[in-house]
Parts: sequence; structure tokens; C-alpha cells
Amino acid sequence: MRVTAIVPAAGSGSRMGGAEPKQYLRLAGVPLLSRTLLALTASGCVDHLVLVVPAGQEPRCRAEILVPYGIAAERVVPGGADRQASVGAGLAAAPADSDLILVHDGARPFVTGALIRQALAAAAEAGGAVVAVPVTDTIKRADETGTIRETPARAGLWAAQTPQAFQARLFREAHQRAQADGFRSTDDSALVERLGCPIRLVPGSRDNLKVTTVLDLILAEALLRAAAGGG
Ligand code: C5P
Repeated sequence: MRVTAIVPAAGSGSRMGGAEPKQYLRLAGVPLLSRTLLALTASGCVDHLVLVVPAGQEPRCRAEILVPYGIAAERVVPGGADRQASVGAGLAAAPADSDLILVHDGARPFVTGALIRQALAAAAEAGGAVVAVPVTDTIKRADETGTIRETPARAGLWAAQTPQAFQARLFREAHQRAQADGFRSTDDSALVERLGCPIRLVPGSRDNLKVTTVLDLILAEALLRAAAGGG
């Protein structure tokens, strides 16, 4: 099975504030995005790597994210206006011989080899797989006036993370169909679910956090310190 990892890292990082794009922020001296890519390559499961970055940032990403850490990315391509467009751009650049596509957020540096392997194995068997954790807050659906409309039971609700993995043929079809129907989602799996394909849920870990806000950055530094034995 040939595995292509698509890493969307073309977001604006606006929720982090600050002038430096999030991709280049350093966690204990190493750029956040380099850490994510190193975790993927260290798993030994990835045959091809396609990195999606903001348009125009390709040379800087090669120079600061890839080259200093010896990371070999097959392609570095410009992303789109939303996450789905960025993953679509990565998919268009994925080698034709890919059997499985693994999508993993550039902003999740703590992914483990075990999670990657579980997601790929489940996708190979079922068609698709999503790493997720049970929600710990109660979720509300509200309308545009701020009035609560629905409180779904917490049991059975999961927060989707990445990695998400899919059989390549299925994932390409899902993107084509979403494009044709004008369907947009912040989640890769949602595109495949609407084809009626069962997607396997892989229980993940809260450590696999997406570094989005300054608080996440502080948490990420603390996780690294703990992993290094510094408490
Ligand atoms: O916006 P969100 O937090 O869901 O972003 C998850 C990942 O998708 C991040 O790694 C971000 O860089 C990426 N993204 C992208 N292109 C966009 C928006 C987000 O590659 N237009």
C-alpha cells in the first residue's frame, strides 16, 4: 500500500495573533510545522509527502521548514481560500499511484506513529478513518441571534482530529462530488461520509492538540518539557 500524506498548512494563523505566520513559530527551537512533518516521517508509514502552504510561501517553507531538518517533501504546493481547497490542492498534486491518503494538520505536532498506523489500517479495511476524542464539554447549537436551539446528548459526540485516512480512489471521488455540489466542510471525512461510506472512528488522545491559540502554544511547550522529563 503506497501512502501519501497531505499536510494542509496554508491557514492564516489569525487566531494566534502576532506577525509571524504560525508555521514558523518555534516550539523549543524547532518550527511547529517541521515538528509535525518529522513526526509523520518518523512513523515510517509515509511514502510521499505533499505539503500545502500559503501561496508565495513555498521557497521560505523549503528553506526554513524542510531543508534544515532534512525533510523530503515530494511537492510543496500553494493552498486555497479554505481548508478543503488546500487539501484539494494537495490531492491534485498527490502521485497517481497512491493507495491511501493520510491528511494531517500542519498544526498538530504531537501525532504518534501508533495513531498514524491505526488510522491507515482502519482506512485500508473500511474505506476511511478519523482520529477523534470524546467531547468533554456539552455542545450547544445556537441560531444567529444567539438563542440555543439544540443540546445534543454528550454521549456519542466526538471531536474530530487528524490524522484522517482514506482509500485514495474514494477520497478523490469525494472531493470531486463536493466540488460539483458546492459542498464545503472544515472536515475531510465529512466529504466522504456524504457518499454514504462508513468511516471508522479511531480513539485518539488530547495530547494530539491543534496549536491554534497562544494558550495552545503554552500547552505545547509544557507537553514538550514533560516529554523531555522536565515535568
Ligand atoms: O482552520 P483550521 O484550524 O481547521 O486549520 C487546520 C489546518 O488546516 C491548519 O494546519 C491550517 O494551516 C490548514 N489550513 C489550510 N488552508 C486554509 C485554512 C487552513 O491549509 N485555507
